[in-house]
Amino acid sequence: MKIFSKLFLIQVLLLCASCTYAQSSGFEKLDEWVKIWKTAQQTLFGYPVNQHSELHDFYEWYLGAGMEVINLNNAGDPMTDKPWNMSSQEFEREVIEFFTPLYGFSKDNVWGIVTHSGTDGNNHGIYFGANYLVGKTNKEPVLYVSDEAHYSNMRLAHLQNLEMRLIKSDAMGRMIPEELEKALVPQRPALIVYAMGSTFKGAIDDMEKLNAVFDRHPEIPAVYRHVDAALFGGYLPFTKHRQMVSHEAMKFESIAISGHKFFGIDSPSGLFLCTKEVYDNQTDFNVTYLNSNMRMINCSRDAVQPLKFWWLIQKVGIKGWSKQAAQMMECTAYLKKQLDAIGWPAWVNEYSNTVFFKRPSADIVNTYNLAQGYDERFGGNLAHIVVMQQVTKEKIDVLINALKKEKNK
Ligand SMILES: Cc1ncc(COP(=O)(O)O)c(C=O)c1O
Repeated sequence: MKIFSKLFLIQVLLLCASCTYAQSSGFEKLDEWVKIWKTAQQTLFGYPVNQHSELHDFYEWYLGAGMEVINLNNAGDPMTDKPWNMSSQEFEREVIEFFTPLYGFSKDNVWGIVTHSGTDGNNHGIYFGANYLVGKTNKEPVLYVSDEAHYSNMRLAHLQNLEMRLIKSDAMGRMIPEELEKALVPQRPALIVYAMGSTFKGAIDDMEKLNAVFDRHPEIPAVYRHVDAALFGGYLPFTKHRQMVSHEAMKFESIAISGHKFFGIDSPSGLFLCTKEVYDNQTDFNVTYLNSNMRMINCSRDAVQPLKFWWLIQKVGIKGWSKQAAQMMECTAYLKKQLDAIGWPAWVNEYSNTVFFKRPSADIVNTYNLAQGYDERFGGNLAHIVVMQQVTKEKIDVLINALKKEKNK
């Protein structure tokens, strides 16, 4: 009997180990596909996704607790005193409360949600901004955004039927204040989207200089500033440059951040935060069946992503994210230094983890999944690496060797 129970225990342990690490789905196609990504994941250098997700025990808990058969939905406002009860809004609210001081908001002047993505956060920023400005001035705003900003902002301006002025950026990707000044439409409120890490060059729009442009133009009846900090808004709060993403220091009204980039949530998600004043100046939409004043855009909202965020806050938290941010900054500097050392033309913006450089062969581009760009001011064909948690010095050395070989051919 004793031997039998020991054997049984070993069998259970083996079964658990295989469940955890290499469980077959029972579908050959799916299993083969997983193998491809387990390998490719090792050299994903070109896109801003944290490949070191720390959600393994979250999934164990989720299944162990039988959560997969409980269908929750965060429809409604998590920041009210009467959150919708078939939801994880209580945890969503705690997530927003955790991030409130990290983005320089105060407890009594903040509103926020866990979004479906950075784009969803920008959608709210632009929508809230437009509503706020129309409410204040009775005039339609003009949206200003740099030509290096993420395309979602241009798409959303179109979707929301807003007049948009695309402002030229300098060679490194920052919106040019003089160009903004030339493009201002007098007598119309201004809705500006600041790129906090432009997608290809990793440029941060100089908010102080751009805000000064508006200060020089009192004929602009009102200004709303939304920060698109999809990637940089993840790591900057955990560095000494945290004031860059601070509402208090930079005076923006709202900010959007992706959850699947720096934070390591394993599928699209994000954060949106704005001042309470902005929230209070949205149009009301009382939805009795949800117990809520629905000011946000979406009805159904994911109830699992806030739980993952909450889990990571407990597990990784300020200490872990600070360590990761420091490693990313160190590896970014290392990558640039190694590229310089082999004479490979490369550039990096201040505060950025994105290094762009002369585009190598298609072989290297494909192996490392490098994102591609083009700019004649830098000699034409370019590629970039976004130094995320998985881009270590050892991996950088391997890439540098490959580039060296290519150079000496
Ligand atoms: C600057 C910037 N904004 C917005 C986005 C869109 O974010 P998401 O993919 O989370 O919708 C990205 C994506 O790479 C980005 O780089």
